[in-house]
Amino acid sequence: MPRAAITGTGFWVPEQVVTNRDLEGMMDTSDAWIVERSGIRERRWLRLDPDGYTEITGAEMGARAARMAIEDAGIEPGDIDLVIYATVNPDCFFPGNGVFMEDLLGLDTTGALDIRNQCTGFVYGLAAADGFIQAGTARTVLLVCGEVQSTGLDRSTAGRDLAVLFGDGAGAVVIGEGQGDRGVLASVLHSQGRFARELWAEIPVGNLKGRWTDAMLEEGRQYPRMNGQMVFKHATRRFCEAVTEVLAKGGATVDDVALVIPHQANQRITDAVGQRLGLGPERVFSNIAKYGNTTAASIPIALAEAVREGRLQRGDLLVTVAFGSGFTWGANLVRW
Ligand code: COA
Repeated sequence: MPRAAITGTGFWVPEQVVTNRDLEGMMDTSDAWIVERSGIRERRWLRLDPDGYTEITGAEMGARAARMAIEDAGIEPGDIDLVIYATVNPDCFFPGNGVFMEDLLGLDTTGALDIRNQCTGFVYGLAAADGFIQAGTARTVLLVCGEVQSTGLDRSTAGRDLAVLFGDGAGAVVIGEGQGDRGVLASVLHSQGRFARELWAEIPVGNLKGRWTDAMLEEGRQYPRMNGQMVFKHATRRFCEAVTEVLAKGGATVDDVALVIPHQANQRITDAVGQRLGLGPERVFSNIAKYGNTTAASIPIALAEAVREGRLQRGDLLVTVAFGSGFTWGANLVRW
C-alpha cells in the first residue's frame, strides 16, 4: 500500500507588515505586553482598498502558495487529482475555497474537498490525503491552508486579546506516493465539541432566519471570541499528548525526532511543549515572532521555511502537531 509523502512545499504571506507598535495606534495595547504573552513581534495583514476589500482574495493567496509548492514538487497543476483546502476564513459562506483554488489553477473537474478544522486544518488535511493515497483514490493531492484573519478581527481595544495574535498567510504542500520508507508513518486526530464555544466565531448563524441580527452586530458577535486562559491550558496539554501518541503509534521515541513543527499559536505554548517533551529549541520550529498565528496556514508556512533553512534532511523524522478551536487537535509523524 503506498504511503503519502510530501514532495513539495510553498507559502505566501502579504507584503504589509503590521508591527506591535502599529497596533498600539489602533488599540490600548503595548509591544511589551504582546511580546511577553505571545512572542509575536509582527504579523502580515492584507492591504484593504477604500471599500474595505482585501488586495487579493483568500483563494488567490492560497493559489500563490500552491504554485510555489507545485513548482517545488516538479509537477504540473494537471498532475493533481485532488485539492484539499483548509481554512476557517473562506471567501464566502459557500462554496468553500477548494473550488476557487481548482479554478485559479486552471484545473478542469478535479475533485475539491474543504476542511473546516481551524488551527488543526493541516494535520487533518495531511491525514486525509494519506488516506486517499493509501486507498488509491488519489495519487497526487494538493493541500492548501490559507487564512484571511485581518478582516474578521475587532481592531479596537474591545478585541485586543485576539487581534494582536492573528495574521494572514497561506501555505501549501504537494503530497504524492512515497518511495521506500519515506512518507506519513502515523496520524492521530481528536476533538472535544463540548468546548466549541470557548474559541469561536458565531456569525453567520446557520439556524437563525437572516443569519444575524443588528443587535448581534452591535454586540460585536461577528468577531471571534476566545477564553484565552482555558485555550492555553488545554493546548499545552493536548500538544504534548498528541506528540507522544503519534510517536507511539509510529513506533518512534522523542529521541528519534529531528524536528517538531507545532501550530504557531503562542511562543509560550511552544516553549512549554518543548520543555515538557525534553526537546530543545533547535528541534522545535518557531516563526511566530514574524507572522503571528495564521491558524491552518501556520504549519505549512513553517514547513516551507524549515525546508528552505535546511532544517530537514532526507530520512529525518518530522512531527507536525496542532491544537485549536473545536477543540480539535492531532499530530502527524512523517519520514522526510
Ligand atoms: N494588550 C494589553 N492588554 C491586554 C491585551 C492586549 N492585547 N489583551 C488582554 N489584555 C489584558 C486583559 O484585559 C487583562 O487585563 P485585566 O487584568 O485588567 O483584566 C490582562 O491583559 C490579562 O489578561 P489575560 O487574558 O489574563 O492574559 P493571559 O496571560 O491569559 O494572556 C493570551 C492572554 C490570549 C495571550 C493567552 O491567554 C493565550 O495565549 N491564550 C491562548 C491563545 C491561543 O493560542 N489561541 C489560539 C489557539 S489555536
